[in-house]
Amino acid sequence: MKKILITGAAGFIGSHVARLFVNKYPDTHIFNLDKLTYAGNLENLKDIEHNPNYTFIKGDIVDGDFILELFKEYQFDGVIHLAAESHVDRSIENPMEFIMTNIVGTVNLLNAARHIWDGDFEGKRFYHVSTDEVYGSLGNEGFFYEDTAYDPHSPYSASKASSDHLVRAYHDTYGFPMIISNCSNNYGPNQFPEKLVPLFINNICHNKPLPVYGKGENVRDWLYVIDHAHAIDVIFHQGANGETFNIGGHNEWKNIDLIKVLIKVVDKKLGREPGSSEKLITYVTDRAGHDLRYAIDSTKLQETLGWKPSLQFEEGIELTVDWYLKNQEWLDNVTSGDYQKYYDEMYGDR
Ligand code: NAD
Ligand code: TYD
Repeated sequence: MKKILITGAAGFIGSHVARLFVNKYPDTHIFNLDKLTYAGNLENLKDIEHNPNYTFIKGDIVDGDFILELFKEYQFDGVIHLAAESHVDRSIENPMEFIMTNIVGTVNLLNAARHIWDGDFEGKRFYHVSTDEVYGSLGNEGFFYEDTAYDPHSPYSASKASSDHLVRAYHDTYGFPMIISNCSNNYGPNQFPEKLVPLFINNICHNKPLPVYGKGENVRDWLYVIDHAHAIDVIFHQGANGETFNIGGHNEWKNIDLIKVLIKVVDKKLGREPGSSEKLITYVTDRAGHDLRYAIDSTKLQETLGWKPSLQFEEGIELTVDWYLKNQEWLDNVTSGDYQKYYDEMYGDR
């Protein structure tokens, strides 16, 4: 049986990738390696936890000895690496966690895979999941392409850029069988409510202020998380070693416009006058180094591997809001304890 290690599969995107692979490939064993930080939650995978082709392993990718032993024991054929510290605001508060997990953790995985594969890369693959934020910020026009020069601005994006360079360096130096994708902002079920979409849905429900950074004019390119998971599946199975693919849905929204759509949808579903929660919008101090605009050109992926997003944004937002409204218990669980402390530190003085 083929063995694939997915790192960070208790998190937002990883959980959707693990579910897709476990259900779609019953003859492949999926191992989920996750440290279960504040962002990792095994409740995200309750529906597959007893599947015979799924195993959870708790562990930290920063611990190089542990990672090497794990690879020796299980002899993975492939790795899909999603584990990361992923929130820009946290990276501004505490960059070192990002350096350790995103850079050192990635190199530990590269070294362990290189060790067990020992130059025989036939049928082996290391898939590094990255972000469009490595490309920096666009003005009002243009797109990020696979060959756009890296220009990261936050500790988060700089740590992801560094890990991307290292993964490519292992390919160029050792012939290591890697592949990378850089995706735009994801939204959908199971996202930790520190990111814009789930945070704002939760706050609208509880009539709490909606903290809009700066003037709300920054632009992001939004993709439904399950479409990202499908792209990862296609790239993992059909992409060529050494390649990079941009993933995005050509779906740009100014923050303030996206927020108004969210408000309308949530208000309607809660039986409020649609738009009435706009009174909760509160403009707060801008994020330091806030990138103005991200926009992905995913032509290469669409034309060479035939992937395209399956959902229109309006459908995706409806599904997302429905999920958070139906999963209040999930939200309550992840927003208790440490979350409150984080929230007070982040927004208390704004
Ligand atoms: P997330 O924060 O929801 O999940 C990250 C997971 O990694 C969590 O389960 C966490 O417990 C685990 N983890 C963190 N540190 C670890 C460590 N040291 N050892 C083992 N596990 C650890 O993140 P996400 O939004 O699902 O992002 C997943 C990946 O996709 C990241 O690499 C991120 O850079 C990338 N990405 C995210 C987006 C987005 O919009 N969320 C867009 C493009 C790319
Ligand atoms: P976020 O979801 O943190 O993703 P990223 O920074 O990786 O793009 O933020 C999306 C956009 O929303 C970004 O421009 C910052 C903005 N934002 C706010 O205005 N208020 C908030 O409370 C948060 C979390 C984000």
